[in-house]
Amino acid sequence: MRTKIVAGNWKMNKTSAEGAALIAGIRKELGDGKLPVEVVVCPPFTGLDAAAKALAGSKIGLGAQNMHFEAPGAFTGEVCAEMLKALCVQYVILGHSERRTFFGETDAIVNRKTKMALAAGLTPIVCVGETLAEREANKTEKVVTTQVRDSLAGLGADLAKVVVAYEPVWAIGTGKTASPAQAQEVHALIRRVLAVISDGQTATGIRIQYGGSMKPENAKELMSQPDIDGGLIGGAALKADAFAAIVRGAL
Ligand code: PGA
Repeated sequence: MRTKIVAGNWKMNKTSAEGAALIAGIRKELGDGKLPVEVVVCPPFTGLDAAAKALAGSKIGLGAQNMHFEAPGAFTGEVCAEMLKALCVQYVILGHSERRTFFGETDAIVNRKTKMALAAGLTPIVCVGETLAEREANKTEKVVTTQVRDSLAGLGADLAKVVVAYEPVWAIGTGKTASPAQAQEVHALIRRVLAVISDGQTATGIRIQYGGSMKPENAKELMSQPDIDGGLIGGAALKADAFAAIVRGAL
């Protein structure tokens, strides 16, 4: 019932030309016909325009990795939702753990960004996840519950349009993947929290991606868990064959 969604988070990698070449490679792998699941690539801001052109005629969607929560104005160095829309961007990753850790993003900031993205007609991919210290201190449930509740507060009916990405911080870029059972447990928790802040029907319809060292070898098993509706892929999204293999694993 939920269409799976696989998104590549390129992080601070790929020039415009390199990104266009990667997209050409992904299109060659997946073909331009109907895709079995929703597929999205998220280049850095500087690569969005070239990526949009490289995606012309393909069913692959385009996402950004961040945006500011304000409308156009005096915010040096920032990029707003309207600018992304003008580049044919449809999705935006918000509150990634690297944004939270290195750039001080709080749940309150992520919440403002999410509201602005929705108001502009973008689909937010809102990231949550516990650190290793939090997991070891048995705080996973508390931390993830708070992040979901506060990052997604006050969205009303628009909550149904959000994609949530569960990314345990200890699994990101480390090669340590959460086991399918570990991931499923937290995904089920997230869906319960979503039901509390909305209703059961809305929560059942929301896609929850897993992210953190997902690769062709583990993608299929992770995405066959009942509450895992796709993946947010970092390292493995930088290679066309690996990314395409993960997309096929979502079937
Ligand atoms: P990874 O990154 O696949 O390289 O672990 C995932 C992410 O941070 O979105």
